[in-house]
Parts: sequence; structure tokens; C-alpha cells
Amino acid sequence: MSQSPQIRRLSYSDLPQVMSIERGSFPTPWSLAMFVLELSKPSGISLAAVHDGRVAGYLICSRYDTVWHVMNVAVDRRHRRKGIATALLARLFEIADRPGEQYTLEVRVSNQAAISLYERFGFRGAGVRRGYYHDNREDALIMWRTAEAAAASCERESAPVRKAGSDGLGASAAPA
Ligand SMILES: CC(C)(COP(=O)(O)OP(=O)(O)OC[C@H]1O[C@@H](n2cnc3c(N)ncnc32)[C@H](O)[C@@H]1OP(=O)(O)O)[C@@H](O)C(=O)NCCC(=O)NCCS
Repeated sequence: MSQSPQIRRLSYSDLPQVMSIERGSFPTPWSLAMFVLELSKPSGISLAAVHDGRVAGYLICSRYDTVWHVMNVAVDRRHRRKGIATALLARLFEIADRPGEQYTLEVRVSNQAAISLYERFGFRGAGVRRGYYHDNREDALIMWRTAEAAAASCERESAPVRKAGSDGLGASAAPA
């Protein structure tokens, strides 16, 4: 990919493309109803990465109480390793980061690609949920990120965050 993807809000009309990426990315893909439910939550942040007018990746983040939960991130196989997930996460943190803001997620312990990606943004392993994934009883690594610590660690490590292009998300896109 010669240029950064455009990052914008994910919309209901994107969901057919999202479902296609989802089915190609996970052994137990989310249903359409799960995406619809997440999009309906006013406090959530759902983003699409668009390349050549098509959805190339997406990110779903929900807020429960005081904590952000990164629920789903996936990139079309044809567009992986081009900085799309990086651009999606960078935009999420642009929107949601405040000093002390906390984020958590679960990831398969075997998913080294995703673990490396999250570590670059300051997520750190903080325990394991045994047999969390129903298909093969694989353990989940629980990861946490705190905004201040991550910002400091990114500065120290000069993490290569590729800048997303114009995304049409104004200040009003910030969640309540
Ligand atoms: C994990 C995933 C979202 C990464 O998306 P991506 O757009 O390819 O990621 P990026 O190009 O932004 O990669 C950023 C960094 O993540 C790490 N990474 C990404 N893919 C990797 C791989 N296959 N192997 C090792 N490291 C990888 C690298 O550190 C990479 O930086 P680099 O390319 O400079 O080495 C994508 O592989 C995917 O959709 N996988 C299936 C769904 C999934 O597992 N989602 C996460 C669920 S928790």
C-alpha cells in the first residue's frame, strides 16, 4: 500500500464487507448481530480502514464502566502487514486517550502477530484466562494498557506509528 488508509467511523452499511473479513480472520467469527449490537452502543468506538473505497480492516472498542475493551480488530488477508491495524489503533488512542485512561483486551496466547502489535502500543500481559476460546480451549492472554504509561513508553521506544490519513472524524467523534 503506497499510502496510509483512510480511517473513519464504521457504519451499518460496511457490515457485509466486515463479515467477509471476519470470516476469513477467525475460527469462530462474530455474527452479524454481534456487530450490529456493538455499533448500536453510543459510547463505543468502531472504526473502518478504507483502501480504494473498500473496507480493508476494522476495530471495535466498547467502554464498560471506566475501562475501554478492544473487542475486535481484523484486517483483510490481502492487506496485512501494511500498517492498517496500526493506523486503526493509533486513531482509537487519538480519540480516546486521556491521562490514566485504561484499555484491556484478550488475545489467543498463540496469536503472536496480534500480541506484537498490541505491545507496540504499550499493552502488557497481565494474566491468562485458561481455556477461554471454545473452539480449541486455548488460553487467552489478558492485556492492559494505561494511557500515560503507554505514551511515555512509546516516546522512549520511538514506536513507529504510521499516521492515518484524513479521517473525517472531528472532535464531536469523541465518545461521551
Ligand atoms: C493481527 C492483525 C490485526 C494485524 O494487522 P496488520 O494490519 O497486518 O498489522 P500491521 O501491519 O499494522 O502490523 C503492525 C505490527 O504488528 C506486528 N505484526 C503484524 N502481523 C504480524 C505477523 N504476521 N507476524 C509477526 N508480527 C506481526 C508487527 O510488529 C508489525 O510491525 P512490522 O510490520 O513493522 O513488523 C491481522 O494479522 C489480522 O487481522 N489477524 C487476524 C485477526 C486477529 O488475530 N485479530 C486480533 C485478535 S485479538
